[in-house]
Amino acid sequence: EHRERDKLIEAHELTAKLYNYLLKNTTHGQPALEYLRSRGVTDKQIDQFMIGYAPPQWDTLVRFLEKKQFDPEQMEKGGLFIAKGDGSGYLDRFRDRIMFPIWSREGKVIAFAGRTLGDSQPKYLNSPETVLFNKSGILYNFHQSKTLMRKNRRVVLFEGYMDVIKSWSAGVHNGVASMGTSLTEEHATILQRHADEAIICYDGDNAGQAAVLKTIPLLERAGLKVQVAMLPKGMDPDEYITANGKHLFMKEIIEHPVSVTKFKLLYARKNHILLEEEGRKNYSLEAVGIIARLESPTEREFYLKQLSREVDISLESLKQDCFKHWQQLQKMKPQRDNNDNSWNNGRNEN
Ligand code: GTP
Ligand code: MN
Ligand code: MN
Ligand code: MN
Ligand code: MN
Repeated sequence: EHRERDKLIEAHELTAKLYNYLLKNTTHGQPALEYLRSRGVTDKQIDQFMIGYAPPQWDTLVRFLEKKQFDPEQMEKGGLFIAKGDGSGYLDRFRDRIMFPIWSREGKVIAFAGRTLGDSQPKYLNSPETVLFNKSGILYNFHQSKTLMRKNRRVVLFEGYMDVIKSWSAGVHNGVASMGTSLTEEHATILQRHADEAIICYDGDNAGQAAVLKTIPLLERAGLKVQVAMLPKGMDPDEYITANGKHLFMKEIIEHPVSVTKFKLLYARKNHILLEEEGRKNYSLEAVGIIARLESPTEREFYLKQLSREVDISLESLKQDCFKHWQQLQKMKPQRDNNDNSWNNGRNEN
């Protein structure tokens, strides 16, 4: 129903403006404003991303939208209200939270993410799935980043809203984030229509790095060339910018992404103690398996040489093991043409 959707979008747009107003102009919003400032969010960013504040009262939004003749039942279905248990009316879904509007690809507010000011759980509360909002198809900030994305055919993927906002001010105007869930195939397909390359810049903690590993094949299957911008251990982009500044973030992190193979090798290395024989051996075999997936013999040789130095095993042995892996991989993809004799070429040189 077109009319219902339009009404719901109108309600979301008005709600975003209300929350933004309450954040900037009321005493209730003051602690939230101070919280944002303490995290280094500027007035400019507050306006650009329409950040707001949902006050602690139970019915601020209910009264605001009812006065404007919006149907409360529809607002409940649309995720802005919650029906009271006893059926006597409605409550605001979001209370005492910093509000981040979520936009459709066309730039309409269709949902919210609300963050607590403290440590209470959940840290982020999202709108539920509605007729407007389907999480697996929406990327935060897509509507603002698509201009540059299309121009340089490149997208930067972050984990969090704050990462997108902070990195925008550092100069990343093609940054998006998924909605707290992992990236979906649908996301990858959408991105592939606008970009040829993706840079993954997830948090430098274990969860973030594990998520990188899961996201790589998803993007690659969609046809994107993938690179990984890595952060120091435990830091996320927002924290890095706060600690080291915008300039270093651009120069050291965004402009120096590593290849997927390099990332996988670094990730594998973390699980082994290279000072121990067993660790060195197991890492070598794992690394060789990663390198064997590369199509280009030059690239394979490049990484094998690095590995050879790293683990102090001869290039020749590594190559032989790599060849075995490679053969197995070929068996697993039977439709490949058999003309790839890059190995023979490589070996003849030695
Ligand atoms: P800040 O603490 O505000 O900097 O958040 P963050 O983005 O650094 O959070 P974190 O790295 O823990 O999580 C990354 C993203 O996952 C967030 O931006 C959210 O989209 C999502 N997320 C985190 N915690 C929650 C949660 O409790 N509920 C939901 N629905 N999503 C969450
Ligand atoms: Mn994280
Ligand atoms: Mn984070
Ligand atoms: Mn963070
Ligand atoms: Mn760049």
